[in-house]
Amino acid sequence: MDKLVIEGGKALYGSLEISGSKNACLPIMAAALLTDDECVIKNAPALKDVHTLIKILNSMGREVKKEGDTIIIKRGRVTNLVASYDLVSTMRASIVVLGALLGRYGKAKVSFPGGCVIGPRPIDLHLKGIRALGTDLKIEEGYIIAKCARLKGARIYLGGHFGSSVLATANTLMAATLADGETIIANAAGEPEVEDLANFLISMGARIKGAGTPTIVVEGVKKLSGTTYKIIPDRIEAGTYMIAAIMTRGKLFIKDAVYRHNIALIDKLKETGACIDEKKGGIEVKIAAKNIKSVDITTLTYPGFPTDLQAQIMSLTTVAEGISVITEKVYPERFIHISELNRMGAQIILEGSSAIIKGVKKLSGAPVMASDLRASAGLVLAGLVAKGRTEVSRLYHIDRGYEKIEEKLTSIGAKAWRIQE
Ligand code: EPU
Repeated sequence: MDKLVIEGGKALYGSLEISGSKNACLPIMAAALLTDDECVIKNAPALKDVHTLIKILNSMGREVKKEGDTIIIKRGRVTNLVASYDLVSTMRASIVVLGALLGRYGKAKVSFPGGCVIGPRPIDLHLKGIRALGTDLKIEEGYIIAKCARLKGARIYLGGHFGSSVLATANTLMAATLADGETIIANAAGEPEVEDLANFLISMGARIKGAGTPTIVVEGVKKLSGTTYKIIPDRIEAGTYMIAAIMTRGKLFIKDAVYRHNIALIDKLKETGACIDEKKGGIEVKIAAKNIKSVDITTLTYPGFPTDLQAQIMSLTTVAEGISVITEKVYPERFIHISELNRMGAQIILEGSSAIIKGVKKLSGAPVMASDLRASAGLVLAGLVAKGRTEVSRLYHIDRGYEKIEEKLTSIGAKAWRIQE
């Protein structure tokens, strides 16, 4: 197992390239199962989760090649309609093959995804969307077994206790592209990754309107074809480095970052005293105020503040002037990073699903460990400004979502390197 060692205290300067979006890439790779033709996906990030999905596609009989940042899903048919527990248990997002298999083959057997350190992650909305299209569903021996003679378009309300769901929308949307007639998905997730999936499907011949809004309308077609498609830049990776620029009091140009994808973060960073400008080819971020100011944040579905940046912005508030309150409305238990940040000298208390953070002058480096991707990213940010050495262990969590983190950090002036535990 690898660790990231960081010597804190270096301001980050320069220009940084953002990788393709993990959370757009995964459903798009699954959507390639909707056709037997070859699909070429460009700008795919080199991440562990992407490799896990390649393994799942391979286990189903599809040949996949990765050449640099291009993934080629070769022409061929699925020969095994099962996504096994061994693979799904390593990555919950694997459930996204369900809609594609059903759309194309009318059958699927996908392992029920297990628990998760960021809190309970039910799949009722996935099942609701798929069932509404006329599928017969059973849960047996830990598997979702889905079957339908013919998928039929339907009007579906996909709202749950916490609002819309990204992957439930993706699953329902994929299945609906090959259903008979019209499907209306109300309270659909409007995240840029859902819009990107819809654009990929449209490039395959699907008829979809409204993606990126709460109402998606799909007119089913008989067949989808192969395509070549470039996925969007990763807004969470971009946002993480934007926060790093402010925390370290540096100045970064985040190449390819899309302003509108990070609008809630940008709004909050400006409140902390940042100066953020959209420039040709990316976004420039620097601190304008003398001190970083405290800020109150509530995570919400898009275009609200993303839960996937909650741990990172919390790191920033630990060294801001004054008291910040961060309320988590998407995953109310996603606070695994608090105890580790406190070990570094932060002053955070948790009250229900709100964290109250009293800014301190300085954090102090420490060995820390997190058991979740974004929590680990928050700890890396804390390490960048802490006095002395921080060692973030279990780096495999970070490798799920941040491509070449130590190389990227070093290229902008951080003192960070990877070692084997
Ligand atoms: N929810 C339900 N029922 C469902 C599905 C979800 O109640 O059937 C609830 C969840 O418990 C949560 C809320 O709806 O409270 C939103 O969850 P959502 O389904 O949107 O999450 P997801 O689709 O499983 C994706 C990302 C996550 C990201 C969330 C929220 C991928 C592969 N994953 O998950 O990313 O946190 O959307 O934006 O797209 C990450 O990258 O670190 C990560 C966890």
